[in-house]
Amino acid sequence: MNHPSGAAHYSPKTQQFLQRLGIQHPIFLAPMAGTSTPELAAAVSNAGGLGSLGLATSSVAQAQQAIQRTRELTSQPFNCNFFCHQPPQADPATEQAWITYMTPFFSALGGTAPHTLKPVNFTFIDNQPLLDMLLHEKPAVVSFHFGIPTPDAIRQLQQAGIILLACATSLAEAQIIQAAGLDAIVAQGIEAGGHRGMFNRDFDPAISTHDLVRLFTAHTHLPIIAAGGIMDGADIQQVLALGAYAAQLGTAFVICDESAANPTYRERLQDPTLQTTYITASISGRPARGLMSAWHSQVDRPERPALSSYSYMYDLAKQLNALATGQGNHDFAAYWAGSNVARIRNLNATDLMQTLIDELQSAIATRFDKT
Ligand SMILES: Cc1cc2nc3c(=O)[nH]c(=O)nc-3n(C[C@H](O)[C@H](O)[C@H](O)COP(=O)(O)O)c2cc1C
Repeated sequence: MNHPSGAAHYSPKTQQFLQRLGIQHPIFLAPMAGTSTPELAAAVSNAGGLGSLGLATSSVAQAQQAIQRTRELTSQPFNCNFFCHQPPQADPATEQAWITYMTPFFSALGGTAPHTLKPVNFTFIDNQPLLDMLLHEKPAVVSFHFGIPTPDAIRQLQQAGIILLACATSLAEAQIIQAAGLDAIVAQGIEAGGHRGMFNRDFDPAISTHDLVRLFTAHTHLPIIAAGGIMDGADIQQVLALGAYAAQLGTAFVICDESAANPTYRERLQDPTLQTTYITASISGRPARGLMSAWHSQVDRPERPALSSYSYMYDLAKQLNALATGQGNHDFAAYWAGSNVARIRNLNATDLMQTLIDELQSAIATRFDKT
């Protein structure tokens, strides 16, 4: 364990929340399926923040291995994240429309589009083997995206001593999370990289991170964790000053050595000519923010078919990307990134954490100097 020294000047409510979580600093690594690793999670937790594993695309066995590997690297608490979308509904006509629409892209690469699609991401809802694994492993924290689990699963996880977080993009979602008895709310603003966390993908309130923090602070009584566009310690201080108990950062950590991001993803995130982000649902079937790619410019056009149930389209996207990547064409990958990606810094996770902590301490001290 390598807790940085230095006095913390967090508010009593933040201190209390940190104490409950068993961590030192109000800095959470965002769970990032496909990008976060046990090494990244452990580095953040060892630096006094809350590391996270994005396990939504892992099998139960892979998720368990990731938890056990993280435990080998840290004795500190960390978060395990899962998706809670409604179980996928097959709609062969819409899936076929997407296959037909995407066929020219496959043909242009000398490939063939698949004949059928299947969902590639599972949901935590009614997933008994996953629930059983978590009740066995008992990670300190579990968080949910796209919705919340059943009341019974919530009760069992909490009875096992696990602290539960869920993401909200609107006050209505925050109130559902509070009424269900979860422990804290991740306020995901429109600036956030990756998938928008709406429970219903078709209605995006598109509220900024700062406005969500103020909204949730005024109308709920749970701890709020701000997420979206937060890149440095001054950003963290701002959300704490607005009432957040902690901040969750994703994009800032993607290019850390410990992440699973591939070289092209790392290069593009740091290329000043590419650091503009857009939201499209054409990749997975759910809206997500990332760097511009062929998905935005060539696929997400007015004539595209209606969205199929999440995550059938992701199957098509992953197959097209595999075909393209095999030929050295990286235009069909998903480059998830938040709107403030231009402020990304090339540091390893331990150094980034120390930098964030120092910046946060100095922003807090400056604020007190002024008042
Ligand atoms: C590469 C990447 C992958 C993500 N994957 C997940 C995920 O698996 N689960 C989740 O709850 N959020 C995921 N998110 C969203 C983050 O939890 C968080 O809302 C977002 O990173 C905050 O915005 P920022 O990227 O500007 O810091 C992802 C974000 C990124 C950038």
